[in-house]
Amino acid sequence: MKGPIPQDKIEEVKNRADIVSVISEYVTLKKAGKNFLGLCPFHKEKTASFTVNSDKQIFYCFGCGEGGNVISFMMKAANLTFPEAVRALAEKTGVVIPRREMNREQKAALTKMEQIRKLNEKAAAFFVRDLFLETGSGARSYLRDRGIGDEAVRVFRIGYAPEGWRHLRDLLEREKIPLGLAEQAGLIVQKTGDAPGGYDRFRQRLIFPIEDAGGQVIAFGGRLIGSGEPKYLNSPESPLYVKGRNLYGLSKTKEEIRRSGCAILVEGYFDLISLWNAGIKNVVATLGTALTREQVRLIRRYTLQVVASFDPDEAGRKALVRCLELLLSENVEGKVLMLPEGYDPDDYVRTFGKESFLDRVNDALPMVDYYIDHFIGGNQSLQKDRDTLTAAIALLSRIEDALQRNLFVKRISETLGVDQDLLKREINLMLATGMKPAGEAIRGQNERKIDPVELFLVQLLIEHPEKIPRMVTENVMDYMEDPDLKTMGRMLVERYDIKEFSVPDATALIEGLENERIRTQLLRSLVESPPLDHSVADRVFDDTVHKVKRKWYRQQHGIIRRKLVAAQRSGDQTLCHSLILEKDKLLREERALQSGQGLNE
Ligand code: CTP
Ligand code: MN
Repeated sequence: MKGPIPQDKIEEVKNRADIVSVISEYVTLKKAGKNFLGLCPFHKEKTASFTVNSDKQIFYCFGCGEGGNVISFMMKAANLTFPEAVRALAEKTGVVIPRREMNREQKAALTKMEQIRKLNEKAAAFFVRDLFLETGSGARSYLRDRGIGDEAVRVFRIGYAPEGWRHLRDLLEREKIPLGLAEQAGLIVQKTGDAPGGYDRFRQRLIFPIEDAGGQVIAFGGRLIGSGEPKYLNSPESPLYVKGRNLYGLSKTKEEIRRSGCAILVEGYFDLISLWNAGIKNVVATLGTALTREQVRLIRRYTLQVVASFDPDEAGRKALVRCLELLLSENVEGKVLMLPEGYDPDDYVRTFGKESFLDRVNDALPMVDYYIDHFIGGNQSLQKDRDTLTAAIALLSRIEDALQRNLFVKRISETLGVDQDLLKREINLMLATGMKPAGEAIRGQNERKIDPVELFLVQLLIEHPEKIPRMVTENVMDYMEDPDLKTMGRMLVERYDIKEFSVPDATALIEGLENERIRTQLLRSLVESPPLDHSVADRVFDDTVHKVKRKWYRQQHGIIRRKLVAAQRSGDQTLCHSLILEKDKLLREERALQSGQGLNE
């Protein structure tokens, strides 16, 4: 009987499993200073940037940003779930994990995902079987007409959902599978007022199981065989399937992507399968939705080069800009694969053949060049120039890497004939005011700028937990702005063990951070920085707290200043007056704080 693993056993496993020896089974590590270095197992690289820190028992890759502790390494390297990874390590280190019965609720919660997974596997097998039955003959000839061979059908587990409203439903009922589960999995649709039990979601459709990177079926896509609408139907989101988290085909193509050093990014099921069928196997598909950061990070585990195909229409232009921005900010090299008007990758490879398609891949232009040639260049009207510039500044302001950004700034300034410094000032202004050009999506938490000082403060607290009580006495949290770092600070305070002067298992707290960028940045700085001497740590802590507070005051002054300008412009004397009082108060507080702490500039 599997059950949740007791926390103390997890701790024991972590304490006994040495990260360096565990990782050594997967990666050749060499000692380099206080760390160990090797070639990253999560992305293709020629020079070692995968770093393991034995003191802190963490790893971090400077190339792709993967990082974590010994358990997360096992999860990623061996494709295991958390409990599986803990059990695997327990076996290695001789920790005995008692097998415990779960109570009913735990069982229900923990097995729900597992049940949906099993059901999906079962449904996938049903659909495959139906493809090869008499009822599937139409679907089989459809596949044949589209040139898809037997091997591709087998590898991608293509199936068929026959006509009729309760085909799958009957099969499931016969197998005594609860229909409620099938409804949660999105296979059965239940509408209020309908006959109990619901009906099949997929009818008369070719079925493409959507797998996660590990090869488990998490959802389905179905293409209509006959005419009608909608052409494609996908499973709704479920506990297992969240759109934008996965890439279609990856489980079957990841090895080839790693081997070839490049991933071809396409849109549709048939684009991917058709290329694979033609022998081009380093492909992934987004399934018609906009590329997400999570998807880029998924790709980045296997390669740092992406060749993406886009439609030559307005939607394709938008998709390209978004793709470029994401790839740049994730340090992935992007190229643009432009196909002739009216051809998607599937049409193209079937009309012109594999070699011609590969020629186009080889000739693909770097995305930055493409952007500059097609979006920035050209003799446009003055207004259009301004719009172009605004869009370019927005794009530039989201490139975190200063080197990349400056190179790009240089080229845009040359193309547009705009002064480089002016461009840089505009970018800084946009960053400082958080101003977003109209129509831009609001940046998600993962895209927010991380304040280095606040990040460093949290890092200090992790490395020198004895400073945690002073976070409280000096109200430092009130001055922190980043909500995630603030939460992290709060958790450290909460978990602080006064007797031990430490926070038990601080790395688990980092692992639990939802904001992926903060998580990797923290791991990265922890790996990078040498531990501070205690005598120095005190001073550094004071200094950092001081900086955090000063930044807060600077920001408050800025806000008041902007309000004041607006109030003066509108001639609102009362508001002006109260704002000036507010500003004075702020200044007094700030001075009191500084003299009270005896801190100088
Ligand atoms: N898509 C979808 N729902 C639709 C249309 C499209 O989910 N109604 C997704 C599918 O994943 C599809 C992809 O967007 O594969 C690309 O759509 P499209 O270019 O219209 O279709 P193709 O992939 O070219 O499909 P086909 O070749 O079968 O016509
Ligand atoms: Mn197509």
